[in-house]
Amino acid sequence: MPNSILVEGLHKRYKNHHAVRGVSFHVEQGEIFGIVGPNGAGKTTTIEIMEGLRKRDSGLVQVLGLDPDKEPLELRQRIGVQFQSTSIQERMKVKEAISLFSSFYRKRCNIDKIVKELGLNEVLNKQFKDLSGGWKQRLTLAMAVIHDPEVVFLDEPSTGLDPRARRELWDLILQLREDGKTIVLTTHYMEEAERLCDRVAMFNHGKVIALDSPKRLVTRFAAGHHLSFQSETADKALIQMLPGVERVERQDGTVHVRSRAVRCCLAAR
Ligand SMILES: Nc1ncnc2c1ncn2[C@@H]1O[C@H](COP(=O)(O)OP(=O)(O)OP(=O)(O)O)[C@@H](O)[C@H]1O
Ligand SMILES: [Mg+2]
Repeated sequence: MPNSILVEGLHKRYKNHHAVRGVSFHVEQGEIFGIVGPNGAGKTTTIEIMEGLRKRDSGLVQVLGLDPDKEPLELRQRIGVQFQSTSIQERMKVKEAISLFSSFYRKRCNIDKIVKELGLNEVLNKQFKDLSGGWKQRLTLAMAVIHDPEVVFLDEPSTGLDPRARRELWDLILQLREDGKTIVLTTHYMEEAERLCDRVAMFNHGKVIALDSPKRLVTRFAAGHHLSFQSETADKALIQMLPGVERVERQDGTVHVRSRAVRCCLAAR
């Protein structure tokens, strides 16, 4: 797959604070690429540099073959952005917000299609201030994809949502990938990254400390467990077959089990 995004040796300082310190990665066309990391790790800074909203100090950044610093207007026609926090005029109705955002783009927007796909019909006449958190996220996602962009950036799209709204949002994001879009999202939840992302970059203190598929990252970073118990009769081969179990040893009536993940479950009799 060709690359949609290329970032190489990216640096960004805010006065004395070196927020992004030599970050490199690429995002393939059609994948969901996750950025995870603690508060202040540099996720939003990096994503907003790719969107052309913040200027980098040094490094190479290309999105859809464009340099966000040099061609921000051209780029904005082809990317969709959902910010970490969006606030629009409190009294603006959902249908007014969608109509306003669709007017920003050269491309003719298919408003009916987006409204239907995101299930916004029932709230079209509601004002922004009267929407729940989940509906606000749906609306801002609609505003990000109204112009059928090739690349969509979602900065913590599910923060503040209850589990049901989060799962609904995941389905919408997966549908965007089905539609052929490339997606970059940030999240604090490894579970979300596991569910959605093809590859994940782990950020810490402005650096990429690991980059791999979520499954491989979890295997690499999840702390292993060591369980020991007394038994003369425990069946070593049977325990070995349990999911997550890596090694079983018996020493003088004590069985030692090493597991990869907490999901390993033992029922001893
Ligand atoms: N405009 C700014 N001026 C000064 N410092 C900033 C600015 N924006 C971000 N920073 C600092 O840069 C660092 C990285 O911030 P950034 O918002 O990129 O982190 P983040 O990983 O998105 O964090 P969070 O998970 O809290 O959203 C932080 O220490 C932050 O305080
Ligand atoms: Mg952030």
